[in-house]
Amino acid sequence: MLKNLLCALFGLGLAFGVAAADTLADVHAEMNGCESCHQDGEPSSDGAFENEQCQSCHGPMAELEGDHHAAHADMLMCADCHNPHELEIGQQPSCDDCHDDGRTP
Ligand code: HEC
Ligand code: HEC
Ligand code: HEC
Ligand code: HEC
Repeated sequence: MLKNLLCALFGLGLAFGVAAADTLADVHAEMNGCESCHQDGEPSSDGAFENEQCQSCHGPMAELEGDHHAAHADMLMCADCHNPHELEIGQQPSCDDCHDDGRTP
């Protein structure tokens, strides 16, 4: 039973070409390389170039789904919440890194 479940999950992972522990950066790099976010593949010093790249594919923060996006437009960068090299694919960013009142998206 457990073995079947694991096989099914592994199969799904293969179908998407994604292993369970892939980070957001890994998955994006599989699509378009490090250059999809970094100019010439090199991280910028302030993250501004990377932030432009996110928005060129996903749209501006003010227009993304969910109130938590619009609430921080022109205030935070995408990576302040979606740390591409820390968060695994499907893992939700948390609010209490910055707000300590238990708020949720
Ligand atoms: C989804 C976009 C994205 C992809 C793809 C990506 N990175 Fe990053 N990376 C970032 C962001 C955002 C930062 C933090 C912003 C900054 O300081 O430049 C960062 C930071 C870094 C840093 C600075 C050290 C650190 O970990 O904070 C290195 C080194 C780095 N990336 C290397 C890579 C390499 C090599 C690849 C390709 C395998 C890659 N990145 C792919 C978005 C990405
Ligand atoms: C204040 C923190 C925060 C910032 C800043 C932020 N996000 Fe999010 N984002 C979240 C949270 C939390 C979720 C999950 C919400 C949910 O599932 O209801 C999310 C969901 C998403 C999703 C959907 C992911 C999925 O699993 O389907 C995308 C795509 C996304 N954000 C892209 C961005 C981009 C691009 C930026 C910058 C323009 C950005 N986000 C800025 C917190 C943030
Ligand atoms: C070259 C275009 C491109 C760039 C640049 C890009 N993304 Fe994506 N991103 C995609 C595509 C395509 C997907 C997979 C389909 C989808 O969920 O929209 C994706 C998926 C995501 C997801 C959903 C992952 C999940 O858990 O399902 C998040 C969150 C996300 N991107 C955030 C970011 C952030 C933050 C940046 C900048 C640091 C960024 N993206 C840069 C194209 C891009
Ligand atoms: C990287 C830090 C950071 C993260 C993570 C973060 N916020 Fe914020 N948020 C801020 C800052 C800075 C402000 C503006 C100052 C203030 O009002 O506290 C703000 C303001 C807000 C506001 C508007 C003002 C208020 O306090 O009502 C809302 C709503 C909000 N955040 C919700 C969220 C939610 C929901 C999440 C989780 C998805 C989240 N935030 C994650 C930094 C963050």
